[in-house]
This record gives sequence, structure tokens and C-alpha cells, in this order.
Amino acid sequence: MLDELEQLPGDAILGIAAACQADPNPAKVDLTVGIYMDEDGVCPVFEAIRAAQQHLVAEEVSKSYLPPAGVAGFNEGMQQLVLGVENEALASGRVTSIQAPGGCGALRIASELVHSATPDATVWVSDPSWPNHLPLLGSVGLEIAKYRYYDPASHGVNFDEMVADLKKAKKGDVVLIHGCCHNPCGADLRAEQWARVGDLAEEQGFIPFVDFAYQGLGEGLDADAEGIRSLVRRLPEMMVASSCSKNMGLYRERTGCAIFLCQDAATGDAVLSQAKVAARKVYSMPPAHGALLASKVLGDSNLRSVWESELSGMCERINRVRAELVAKLNAATGRDFGFIQAEKGMFSLHGLNSEQVDTLRDQYSVYMVGSSRINVAGVNSKNVDYLASSIASVL
Ligand code: LMR
Repeated sequence: MLDELEQLPGDAILGIAAACQADPNPAKVDLTVGIYMDEDGVCPVFEAIRAAQQHLVAEEVSKSYLPPAGVAGFNEGMQQLVLGVENEALASGRVTSIQAPGGCGALRIASELVHSATPDATVWVSDPSWPNHLPLLGSVGLEIAKYRYYDPASHGVNFDEMVADLKKAKKGDVVLIHGCCHNPCGADLRAEQWARVGDLAEEQGFIPFVDFAYQGLGEGLDADAEGIRSLVRRLPEMMVASSCSKNMGLYRERTGCAIFLCQDAATGDAVLSQAKVAARKVYSMPPAHGALLASKVLGDSNLRSVWESELSGMCERINRVRAELVAKLNAATGRDFGFIQAEKGMFSLHGLNSEQVDTLRDQYSVYMVGSSRINVAGVNSKNVDYLASSIASVL
């Protein structure tokens, strides 16, 4: 049986990251997977997480299973982090959530619920989007359609095209939106554009489903959540897949949360029961370690302020690197790379063609995703000159 299975190509992102790791060139530049790296090219453990881990080691008395919805304090902390403590929806009890194995697990559970409720729903995904959205949502059995989003000429959002495509969404469809720090293009919706998406959701009857993997890495924890919160203030239903991979550095601990805004508390109870069954079918029970750490950090005022200042330091470094990259690329190429400064979060889409991307990899050991997405956090003062001159030489 197993010999019937053919060899598949490597993952669009992880495959290229593996190729970079295998490259012996000491000058190689790894701009592949979206992980935060510091000035030394290290993906650090947050000090707040390190401290929470010490508490956990000292206090943990059991490795028994978590309840199916996960750590209660984690769910509560994540709802508040994403929606804001003062949110009326939280007070009215119409928000429910389930801990999930990473943002991916949250995307998957929410998709399972969409399929159970409306099997013929179409999920609208931005073009471009994170490559794994399509298999992750599509393998649940949902129809996927793309809405136009990015304008390569301006490096910004082509909002007119987005609106034109979302007008084709039908009642009960789901529109997947990047909450902030769009992956791969870094082009985010502005406040008035979020408001228009809210109008369209009301007019067309579609349900926004926000992938929120980078809260705190664009402009700050609250500013990055404002688009989501503006929709929560006006819509009856919405879903959010939130992740602690990037903003707490808990990548390998698979720490995410699927949050559901429901019409009322009774619907919330039914939704949670469905989410628990969906999780039970796929992986049974959630992993504990990351959620316990996140819950500690979110709930302890000292650790929380350490975490928030570490996170804003990362956000500031990314923005500094963006400025430096613009200056170096402009000098090396004689072109204007100012768009990099306007993008938000970890990613920048450079608009290089696949031949240029391949040449950078094969001749310069500069590794980026095939779409020419770079992880800006992989740039530092030691590699920025080499990177800029390598890019200049393939233009
Ligand atoms: C990325 O886009 O590089 C990250 O979200 C990591 C992943 O799982 O692809």
C-alpha cells in the first residue's frame, strides 16, 4: 500500500528553509520562515516566558490531560488580548474560545465548524495569502475562492478590487482576513477599509474569519487589534484564529486559540460543544505547556509588563531594520525601495521574479520564499550590505 504513495515536493516555505539550513556557505542569509530573529540571527526565548517556565517547573504537579477546551486562564486571557478587556461582547458572554495547537489548529477547528454549519460555504482567501491556508481550509472540504488584495505596482492593498470580489460572496460564506502584518505582503487594511469590510459583511451576509498570527508586531498589541475590534463592535458573528507563536515566541509549543463571536451566550455554548468535538476528532486533547506559559504571562502583571516591553522592542527592531534596508537597497540599486518602510510586520514582498529568487539562492546563498517574500527580521547589521548588493546584482 505505502509504495503507492509518490514523493511530494517540499513545502513552499519549510522546503526552502531546509535548503538554507543545509547550505554550508557562512555568508548565507536566511529570510525564509516567519520567525523573529534578533540582531545576532537568533530566535530568542522571551525573558517573560523563561520566567513563567521556571514557575511552571516549580509548581506543576501533574501531566494529566487538559480539559478539551484547554487552559481556562489561557482562553480568558486570549479573548481579552484580542478583543480588549472592555469589550461589550465579552461582558455579554457571547464570546467563546477553544485552545488549539497553534494558529493552524485554530484555523482548522474553525473551518471544521464552518463545514458543519454550512457545508456549501465558500471561504474567500486573499490573493496572495499564506500558502498553507489553501490546504488547511480546503482539506476540511470547503470550497475556496480568492479575492484580489495586493497591488504589486504600489505594494499596497488594491481595495477596489478586493471590494469588487467580496461583492460576489454569498450569505453564509466566510472571508478570511489577515488581522495585521499581512503574510506575505505586509500590506494591511486601514481603519476606513475595515469599516467598509464591515459594511460588506452586513450587506452580503458573509462572516469574517480573521487570521491573527502577528498581534503586537505591526504597530502594537491594541493598534494591531483595532480592525478586529471594529468588526466585533458591529457584527453578530465572527471568528478569529489567534496565535502565540510569534508574539510570545512559542512557535514549537503550538499555542493558539480559536475565538468565536456568537449572536448570544446560548449559541456560544453550542459552538464550544462543536469545537470540542471537532478537536476530539482530529487530535483529541490540546498540548499544555505553551498555553500554561502564555496564561501565566497574560495573568501576572509583572511578567506581562516584561513581555509587553520585549514585544515592543522586537516591533521597534523590525521597523529599524526596514529603514536600514530601504537605505541600503536604494544606495545599491539606484531604485526606490521606500515601500518596505510602509509594510507592517515581519514580511516584505520584493516583487522579484522566480528566476531572480533562484539566482539569489543558487549564486548568493540568499534564501527567500519563492514569491520573493522576505522575513525582515532575518536582516541584521552584519548581513544587510551583502543582501542589498546581492539583490542589486540580480535586478
Ligand atoms: C511563515 O509564514 O513563514 C510562518 O507562518 C511559518 C509557517 O508555518 O509557514
